[in-house]
Amino acid sequence: MIPFTMHGSHILSTGSAVPDICINNELISTVIDTSDKWISTRTGIKERKIIDTNQSIVDLATLASHEALKKGLLKPQDLDLILFATSTPHDLFGSASQLQNCLGASNAAAFDITAACSGFVIALIVAHQFIQTGIYKNILIVGADTLSQWVDWSDRTTCILFGDGAGAAILQRSLKNDILSFEINTNGHESHQLSINYNYPKNHCTGNDTYTELLFNQKYNNQYDYLTMNGKEVYKFAVSQVPTSINNCLQKIHRPAKDITWLLLHQANQRILEAVANKLKIPIHQVISNIQFYGNTSAASIPIALNEAFDTGHICNRDVIAIAGFGAGLTWGSILIQWNALE
Ligand code: COA
Repeated sequence: MIPFTMHGSHILSTGSAVPDICINNELISTVIDTSDKWISTRTGIKERKIIDTNQSIVDLATLASHEALKKGLLKPQDLDLILFATSTPHDLFGSASQLQNCLGASNAAAFDITAACSGFVIALIVAHQFIQTGIYKNILIVGADTLSQWVDWSDRTTCILFGDGAGAAILQRSLKNDILSFEINTNGHESHQLSINYNYPKNHCTGNDTYTELLFNQKYNNQYDYLTMNGKEVYKFAVSQVPTSINNCLQKIHRPAKDITWLLLHQANQRILEAVANKLKIPIHQVISNIQFYGNTSAASIPIALNEAFDTGHICNRDVIAIAGFGAGLTWGSILIQWNALE
């Protein structure tokens, strides 16, 4: 057994992948009653990428993970653990083991984390625990979702918002610790505001068959509803809870909001990003945003944006990044990172 000592966690590398099919607002407007103007002004979204029938979420996750491994100069066999944050797995039992197999990461334990759009932040916090306690050295964290397969494409209030994608990060044991503080929150009382519910067959309630008769006669088909959302309530929840959560993280380390170099929020709506930044008094040029290109990619949105921010050289040594995820559950969580470039 490894002796109990606290270790630091370092974000070694990141990667991301999105599908090739691009659906812009003009194209959506030919199918449902909406317009580029409505979508752009209310959400900031101009286009989203959606998965093809010959691709799965595991394929996207594999691409994103390969990029992170390559940049981190690691082999798949170096991974000790894979955390796959997704609410849209290819297999209801979870997709982490499929990802482990695709990568050939034979030494890694792997499991899914289901926490909707907060999934990546929560997985990062979970990974940090395993690093801190000295259990694991190299952890791959993937956030991926394909909500295009779960929205009702005739419902203009939801289908315009979502896109598919995957993002990955490798957290590595280090002498310097990047993770300053974090918090996770849940309000299950409001879970109905955003959900994809399991749908009991109608004939279970109305027909004469008992439940066991339905099962035995193979009339019982498993099915889920389409995604449903109370947009206004989710909006209000995000704008009120996310600044509080980030402020709580700042308070834990006795630092002011002005110390934040980059605000990286779940990319749900440009207006939410701006309202949260406003509450924290963070100038808009310090807010990382790529929502116009991808829409809301759920658990993938933060790692995709993080990867792009590293790739474009925006994040520099010792920058403080406030990251917050929020969404169905309702769940939300924040993590403050001071990124230390490797010497
Ligand atoms: N195109 C055109 N009109 C639309 C539309 C669309 N795609 N979707 C809704 N509308 C209409 C509504 O029917 C309504 O019309 P009405 O006034 O005649 O009834 C009008 O636009 C206003 O709708 P409303 O729901 O009040 O808009 P909104 O300003 O609240 O914006 C959201 C809707 C969904 C963009 C916004 O509530 C939001 O972003 N919420 C947060 C959602 C989110 O981020 N969820 C994921 C969290 S992880």
